[in-house]
Amino acid sequence: MRIQLFTSLLLTAIPSGFASALYPRSVLNGPCTGKDGVIGVCVPTTSCDRDNGTYIHNACPGTPENIKCCTKPHCQLAAQAGDCRWVENCGGGKSLVQYLCPGPDAFRCCITNENATPEPTPTPKPQPDVNLGEKILAKAKEAEGIPYHWAGGNCKGPTGGGFDCSGLVSWAVCQVTGRNLFSEGLRVTRSMYCASASKLKYKKVKWANRRAGDAVFFGGKCDCENNPAGIHHVGLMMDDGYTMWNALKTGTKIRKDNFKNWDESACPYVIRFD
Ligand SMILES: *[C@@H]1O[C@H](CO)[C@@H](O)[C@H](O)[C@H]1NC(C)=O
Repeated sequence: MRIQLFTSLLLTAIPSGFASALYPRSVLNGPCTGKDGVIGVCVPTTSCDRDNGTYIHNACPGTPENIKCCTKPHCQLAAQAGDCRWVENCGGGKSLVQYLCPGPDAFRCCITNENATPEPTPTPKPQPDVNLGEKILAKAKEAEGIPYHWAGGNCKGPTGGGFDCSGLVSWAVCQVTGRNLFSEGLRVTRSMYCASASKLKYKKVKWANRRAGDAVFFGGKCDCENNPAGIHHVGLMMDDGYTMWNALKTGTKIRKDNFKNWDESACPYVIRFD
C-alpha cells in the first residue's frame, strides 16, 4: 500500500506523457523486462537475491529504489528444469513448480525439459580409479600359465618359450605404456631397482606404502651400493599385503604367489608406475 502510494506520488511529479511513453509504469510484483530482455518481476533486491534471481537497474520505473527487475532463467526441482515465467506465458500442459521463483505466486518455474528423455539419474560414476600400475598388473595377468624362462621376454611377448621375472614386468610395462625398458637397459631386476631417479623416471615408494600394481623386489638387503647382484626377483603387487603376480623360477608358470612366510622379505622400496 505504501509503495503504491509512493509510486503514484512520484509519477505525478513527472509530466505524464513523458513517463508513459518512455518509462511505462511498473508496480511491485508486476512484470518488467530484465536482463537479456527476459520477462521478469519487480521485487525488492533482497527477495531477488534470496530466490537466486538476477536483477538489473532502471527496469521497474516508478518503483522505489530497492525494487528491481528480477529474472531467473534457470530453475530446477530434481530432474525438472525450466525458467521463471508468468503463469500465462508458460503454455498449456507444462508443469509449474511453485516456490522456486522470486515474486508473487503467478511468477513460477515453467518446466521446459518435461518431454526431454527422462534424465538417467546422473549417478556419479563410482570411479574405478584404475591407476597405471593396476593396468600393468592386469596386462601381466594375461600371461597366466606361461612358463618361466630365464632371460625370456621382450616388448612383444615371451621369448624362448617364456618370461623371467623382470621380463614379465618389462613386457607388461611396454604393452601398456609403450616404454621399452628392454632397450633402456632397465629390464634386469637389479638395473630396474637400482637405476637413478632420472633414468628410472618412476617413483620409488616405501614398502610400507605399497599398493596393487607396484613392482616389488627381493634380494637380501637390496643394497645397490655394495651388492646389487643380490637383487634377484621382481613381481607386481596384487594388493597392499603380500600377494604378487610373478614369473617365479624355472619349473613354474606365471601365477600368483604369497610371500608372507618367505625366508626373505621384500626390498625397502617398491617402484610405482604412476
Ligand atoms: C537459492 O540457492 C541456495 C543455495 O544454492 C539454495 O539453498 C536455495 O534453495 C535456492 N533458492 C531458490 C528459491 O532456488
